[in-house]
Amino acid sequence: MANRLLLIDHQSEDAKALQQSFSKQQWHVQLATSLEQAYDILRKDSYEPHVIIADLGLPDNAILKHLDELQTLAEYAEWIFLHQDATTTQQEHLHDFAFDLINYPLDLARLNIITKRALRTSLLSRIAGNYSGKEQSKYQPASFFGTSEAAQQLRQLIEQLSSVPISALTITGETGTGKGLVARILHHCGQRKNGPLVELNCAALPKDLLESQLFGHEAGSFTGATKKLKGLFEQADGGTLFLDEIGDMDIELQAKLLKAIEDQKVRRLGSEKEVDIDVQIFAATSVDLEQAINEQVFREDLYHRISVFTIALPSLSQRKDDLVELVPRIIAEFNEKANKKVSEISDSSWEKLLAYHWPGNVRELRNVLERCVLLSTDEQLPDQWLQLNHEVHEHSTTTAVSEHQLVIPIDGTIALEQVEKLMLEKALELEEGNVTAAAKRLQISRETMRYRMKKFDLSSG
Ligand SMILES: Nc1ncnc2c1ncn2[C@@H]1O[C@H](COP(=O)(O)OP(=O)(O)OP(=O)(O)O)[C@@H](O)[C@H]1O
Ligand SMILES: [Mg+2]
Repeated sequence: MANRLLLIDHQSEDAKALQQSFSKQQWHVQLATSLEQAYDILRKDSYEPHVIIADLGLPDNAILKHLDELQTLAEYAEWIFLHQDATTTQQEHLHDFAFDLINYPLDLARLNIITKRALRTSLLSRIAGNYSGKEQSKYQPASFFGTSEAAQQLRQLIEQLSSVPISALTITGETGTGKGLVARILHHCGQRKNGPLVELNCAALPKDLLESQLFGHEAGSFTGATKKLKGLFEQADGGTLFLDEIGDMDIELQAKLLKAIEDQKVRRLGSEKEVDIDVQIFAATSVDLEQAINEQVFREDLYHRISVFTIALPSLSQRKDDLVELVPRIIAEFNEKANKKVSEISDSSWEKLLAYHWPGNVRELRNVLERCVLLSTDEQLPDQWLQLNHEVHEHSTTTAVSEHQLVIPIDGTIALEQVEKLMLEKALELEEGNVTAAAKRLQISRETMRYRMKKFDLSSG
C-alpha cells in the first residue's frame, strides 16, 4: 500500500503544488484546506496517514489550538510543520512532538528528505505498536502455567496486583522459576501496560556502566562518554523499570537508586538538571536479600522500599504437580517451532521427569524438552534424550564431570547444525545464561556467540 500523506494548507496554490510533487513520488496524498476537512479525513475516512505536513498559518491559529485532538486522531503519524514566523514559544511547544519545523520559503529538496525520514519513523512506530499488542496477549496471568495450589494462588495474586498502582515490587525465586515471566505479565496486564517496559540485568554490568545506563550522562561527563545518553529511568518514564538480579548491584549505587525512587527524580551524570520521572520498579533476585543485608552487601532501607509487595516463586521441585501441565504445553510450543509432532510420553519418561529434582527449574525443563522434541523422529518423546542424570545433579556439581559433556550420536539422527546449537545451549546452561562466560567455554568471541545465538533463536535467560 502506498505511503499516505495528509497536507493541511489553506493556501490552495502552494498546497496543490506540494500535492503534485509528492504524488509523483508515489505518495498517496490527501489535501485538507481547513481544519474541518482535516478532521473529516482523519475521523470519517480513517485515513491513518504516515506523515502530516501542516501549515501553521491556518486562520486563528487553528492547528495550534487543536493539536491534542489531532494527535489522538492520527496515532502513528509524524508531523512536519511549515511556518512563516512562528514565535519561539510556539516553536518550543511544537518541538515536543513535531518531527520537524520548516521555514518558508520552502526548500523542496529538504522537505522531501525530511518527509522520507518521517515516514521511516512512522513505519517503525507502527511495527512497535503492533508488537506491543502481541506482547500483551502473550503475557496474561494464564501464561504462568501450573495446576498446583501454589501456581493457582500465584495467578490470583498477579491478577490482584494488576489492578492496583504499584510503585515497587520484588520477585524472588531460584534461577529459572519464572521471575522474568512474572515481571512481564505484571507489566503487560497492569496499569502501565501502555508505557514502556525497560529491563536491566544488574549482574551483567560493572558498577560505572550500570550507573550511566540507569541515570544517563551528558557528553564528556567522563572519558568515553562521547555522546549524551538518556538513562533507563528516563526511558522507562510512564512505564516499568525491571531491575533483574538486584542483589548484585553495588552498594553505593543502591543508595542512588533508593534516592531516585523516593524523589522520583534523576540527574544525568555530568548534568546539573534534575528530571522528573514516573516509573514503577520491579526488582528480581535469586539471592536471599535478608541474608545479603546481614552480610552488609544490601541496604536495608532499599530492601524495605522495594519489598512492599513481594512475590516468592516456588522452585519446580516444590510443585512437581505442575509438570503435568508444563510438559505438554512446552512440547506443543517446540513442536510448532520445529515442525515436529511429539504427542506421546512413555511411562518411563514420566517417571524420570517426576523423579528429577530440577535445579534449573522451568528453564531447565524447557531446555530438556526442546532437545527431545528437536531430536524426535515420530510421535514419541525420545526417552534416551532426557539425560536426567540424578546421581550427577543430586550431589555436588563440582565433581560432576559428565555435566560438562554432551553425548552426540553419529548415526544419522542428528545434523551438524544441531550439534552447534546443542553446544551453545549447553554452554549457556552451564554458565547460567552468562554470554561472555559461555563464549569463553566455546573459545569464540562474545560477538560470534551473540551472532550464533541469534541464528538459533537462543536467549541468555
Ligand atoms: N510457570 C511457568 N509457566 C510457563 N513458562 C514458565 C513458567 N515459569 C517459567 N517459565 C519459562 O521458563 C523460562 C525461564 O523463566 P524466567 O526467565 O522467567 O526465569 P527467571 O526466574 O527469571 O530465571 P533467572 O533467575 O535465571 O533469570 C522462560 O522461558 C519462562 O517463560
Ligand atoms: Mg530472569
